[in-house]
Amino acid sequence: MTAQYTRDASVTDRGLLSSKAYGSGQHLAARQSLYAWQTPRHDLPGMVVDELAGVGGRVADVGCGNGKFVQRLREERRDLTVIPMDVSQGILGDIPGAVVADAQQLPLNDGSLGAVLALHMLYHVEDRTRAVCELARVLGPGGIAIVSTNSRTDKQELECLWRRAAGDVLGIPEGPARVQLSARFTLEGAPAMLGTFFTEVRTIPLPGVIAVTDAEPVVAHLASYAAWADQMGVPFRETLDRARERIDETIRTEGAFRIHCLGGLLVCHGPQPAST
Ligand SMILES: C[S@@+](CC[C@H](N)C(=O)[O-])C[C@H]1O[C@@H](n2cnc3c(N)ncnc32)[C@H](O)[C@@H]1O
Repeated sequence: MTAQYTRDASVTDRGLLSSKAYGSGQHLAARQSLYAWQTPRHDLPGMVVDELAGVGGRVADVGCGNGKFVQRLREERRDLTVIPMDVSQGILGDIPGAVVADAQQLPLNDGSLGAVLALHMLYHVEDRTRAVCELARVLGPGGIAIVSTNSRTDKQELECLWRRAAGDVLGIPEGPARVQLSARFTLEGAPAMLGTFFTEVRTIPLPGVIAVTDAEPVVAHLASYAAWADQMGVPFRETLDRARERIDETIRTEGAFRIHCLGGLLVCHGPQPAST
């Protein structure tokens, strides 16, 4: 088994996802909170609410994590029945009505939903084709699926920072790349993949620049990969400390540490009729 294979497999390892990675909302919250420093700010939950304007009935949020989108939908669309679902019991905490479920086998009847959400989660699913087939299966006539992920160019400065900090620790110019979560399902590759199951896929790109004048939110983001620490090929804590020093250096010389972001929503209509 190669090191690369082990790293890729660990991104979809259900045991690891439901314990070290998402056994609580701590790491996800650290990643979410970095966007507070992004310009322009994108109100993703608000955008999802808008996209669901014509939808009624039941809406499942598959891989709902700490329930950020569930909460907003419940506040703004009281007419909908929102079903929070996640493979990790721990992260669901006390979200009312939450169901522990795997995207690859949804405990929902065919055609039973007005919409289904799969936000920043399909890259964690081992058999993505099966999961997207499930998203299409549970939608009723006119139903929509809303998916999100990141571009392969997203936060390149963070990748670069990590490799350099790892290099400093190892005494070489550049250390190994870190585990990359969204590389398995990118904004560039998603439309073709989703198009196998839906007749129309509309991409809404969400570019932005994060600029921080304090290293801590960036270090917290890097630290949120602790679940994969033993697969990084470099001592994790020392690399974090060195990264902090490098960010401080950049802030001193350039006034801020900047990260270019590119995520996006994919709004999918018209599940392809099941072939017989
Ligand atoms: C990056 S978080 C995204 C959470 C939320 N959708 C958001 O955008 O804020 C990924 C979530 O997907 C969940 N997940 C991973 N694999 C899953 C699977 N096969 N089925 C259901 N949920 C899964 C994880 O436990 C985690 O809570």
